[in-house]
Amino acid sequence: MDVEELFQAQAHLYKYTYSFVASMCLKSAVNLGIPDAIFKNGQPITLSELVLALQIQPTKSGHVYRLMRLLVHAGFFATTKVVKDDKEELGYDLTPSSRLLLKDNVPTLSPFVRAMFHPALVHSSESLPEWFHRNETTPCDTAFGMSFWEYLSQNQEFNGLFNEAMVSDSGMVNLVMKNCKSVFEGLNSLVDVGGGKGGVGRIVCESLPNLQWTVLDLPHVVENLPDSTNLKFVGGDMFQSIPSADAVLLKLVLHAYSDEECIKVLKKCKEAVSKKGKTGKVIIIDIVVGQRNENHELTEAKLFFDMIMMVVVTGREREEKEWEKLFLEAGFSHYKITNIFGQKRK
Ligand SMILES: C[S@@+](CC[C@H](N)C(=O)[O-])C[C@H]1O[C@@H](n2cnc3c(N)ncnc32)[C@H](O)[C@@H]1O
Repeated sequence: MDVEELFQAQAHLYKYTYSFVASMCLKSAVNLGIPDAIFKNGQPITLSELVLALQIQPTKSGHVYRLMRLLVHAGFFATTKVVKDDKEELGYDLTPSSRLLLKDNVPTLSPFVRAMFHPALVHSSESLPEWFHRNETTPCDTAFGMSFWEYLSQNQEFNGLFNEAMVSDSGMVNLVMKNCKSVFEGLNSLVDVGGGKGGVGRIVCESLPNLQWTVLDLPHVVENLPDSTNLKFVGGDMFQSIPSADAVLLKLVLHAYSDEECIKVLKKCKEAVSKKGKTGKVIIIDIVVGQRNENHELTEAKLFFDMIMMVVVTGREREEKEWEKLFLEAGFSHYKITNIFGQKRK
């Protein structure tokens, strides 16, 4: 190995060693409200204006500068020249990634980012190396002595954060509706299995008001959620029973479960859409790993999701052939995958 290669290898190693620092800088940006401060300023914000807007002591200006330098490098903010009091200064601006963190924007992923830094995920991830030599089902069990789902049911604060995170992720479904509305057209009834607080339901029902949408989720998730004309909530367990409907939706549910568990749920879904002699459909919005022409960053994000599924639950992110195996074993004869993003633009 020549010197250049050796230093490159060292940089690569240190980059991944310190990746948690990048995560903590992102967390600081969200907790401090930096994206909203820039947005409220209406134009690129100078360092002194940012420090003032964030109500940070001026003695920490240099530290804010360094935090912003990293976040600019990571693509969360951009810099531009601004003129203030006849002097040219550096101004910080939003990028598409930080626009997704604006509190009042739709979609906003700020609740998602906040929830993912909870000790339920961080401590579980720290238990990964130890867990490989132990017998607990997941690193979450190693860290907390209980499954992720039990942890959620016993921890009101995290349950609230997690459900809000899912609602915020569902804001992205607006984009699905733009490209795949036809999937829902012609349906009279749909059960959103593991539908959380109904984030997807609210979006789809807005464009298809005649569709009767039922969210089935665990009792502690849906209790006290008010029904509306075409959206209702049912507390239950998808492994036991799923109400019948023209279609069933599973968004980011199956990736949290093992193959055996997914097959059980898919069989229940098949029963639910096959009542009254009709054959309906099962719609799955989830991650497919290893799609052709996918860019490096997207593949890496999917692989991070896969590790999170390994750390907190019994699930995994699957390649197309692994999904196919589940569908066929659950008794389905055909399936169609529609990529909603991730293909390299020509
Ligand atoms: C990752 S969240 C996805 C939420 C929602 N589909 C979305 O994308 O916004 C998984 C959901 O499955 C629910 N869930 C987990 N086990 C379940 C079960 N046995 N029966 C019903 N829902 C369950 C969880 O409570 C949670 O709301």
